[in-house]
Amino acid sequence: MSKRPTVVVTRRLPEPVEKELSREFDARLNRDDRPLGADGLQEALRTADALLCTVTDRLTAKVLSAEPRRARLLANFGVGFNHIDTNAAKARGLAVSNTPDVLTQATADIAMTLLLMASRRTGEGERHVRAGAWTGWRPTHMLGTQVSGKVLGLVGMGRIARAVAKRAHHGFGMRVIFHDPYPPTPAEAAELGAEPRASLEQVLEEADFVSLHCPATPETRHLMNRERLGRMRPSAFLINTARGDVVDEAALVEALSSGTIAGAGLDVYEKEPQVSPALLAMENVVLLPHLGSATQETRIAMGMRALENLRLFFSGAPLRDRVV
Ligand SMILES: NC(=O)c1ccc[n+]([C@@H]2O[C@H](COP(=O)([O-])OP(=O)(O)OC[C@H]3O[C@@H](n4cnc5c(N)ncnc54)[C@H](O)[C@@H]3O)[C@@H](O)[C@H]2O)c1
Repeated sequence: MSKRPTVVVTRRLPEPVEKELSREFDARLNRDDRPLGADGLQEALRTADALLCTVTDRLTAKVLSAEPRRARLLANFGVGFNHIDTNAAKARGLAVSNTPDVLTQATADIAMTLLLMASRRTGEGERHVRAGAWTGWRPTHMLGTQVSGKVLGLVGMGRIARAVAKRAHHGFGMRVIFHDPYPPTPAEAAELGAEPRASLEQVLEEADFVSLHCPATPETRHLMNRERLGRMRPSAFLINTARGDVVDEAALVEALSSGTIAGAGLDVYEKEPQVSPALLAMENVVLLPHLGSATQETRIAMGMRALENLRLFFSGAPLRDRVV
């Protein structure tokens, strides 16, 4: 039997994925699910043919400089790859793949969940009931903000944003506007019921809800800074299921506490898993622990897609989801 490629799987994956990986590869699984850290990642780069890695692995230029390196592929489990220094990977001839498409619907669902939770104060309401503080129905109790018919502003109009637009426009009767430097064609936008805006600022000024769907890149770091948060309406909500880096978290804390904006719904943070302590104490923000793609079905599909990339790579075929 020919020697199978060795693959270090940096975190626990759903069982069907681990089973299939072990069947096809010499898979080194992470039974304890402990992040490998810089040293562990370098050891993996030196001793395995590929890494099946995740958003919690910081594959910096320094980590990727491990010598002598045996690994030739970083098969990322996830669509976002801002935790990988892709320039350093490219310079070193290390291929990188990701898992787009399969997590689009689940992540769009979480964006809508946050939008509804923030506007209808459902986190606050749940805490109220569990604390035994509820005294009964009354016409003025815990009034939130209506979602139906409002304006949703999308920052980025890629796969996930389009899935959100569908839900918001066709499901909730929202008017959808967006800004994207690489926009869809007018026909595609019309099908989604979405109207382009030439600048991000126009979206911020017009929207009742702003939902972020651009990747984290050097250009989008702190895209939502103090000045841009100030462009939003005082009655508006910010939803972030993209990446923590896209929002200046300190500026967001300030905007939420000063009433610059009405509220926020966050799935991602600047220093995960740390969350700004001020956010933890606020009632007008909904906080989720990076659950965007966290369904059984999606996580299995992501694993199978990463596996497909490994399979293609080691059979010498072109990678389906090549990033570099
Ligand atoms: N919360 C989660 O668990 C979770 C899950 C999946 C993806 N994500 C994040 O969502 C991001 C989007 O995923 P996707 O599959 O829709 O990606 P995508 O590549 O299909 O879409 C990204 C869009 O952002 C646009 N864009 C780039 N720079 C921009 C800018 N400066 N301003 C506005 N738009 C800009 C691009 O042109 C593109 O259309 C990922 O990069 C990832 O970081 C998070």
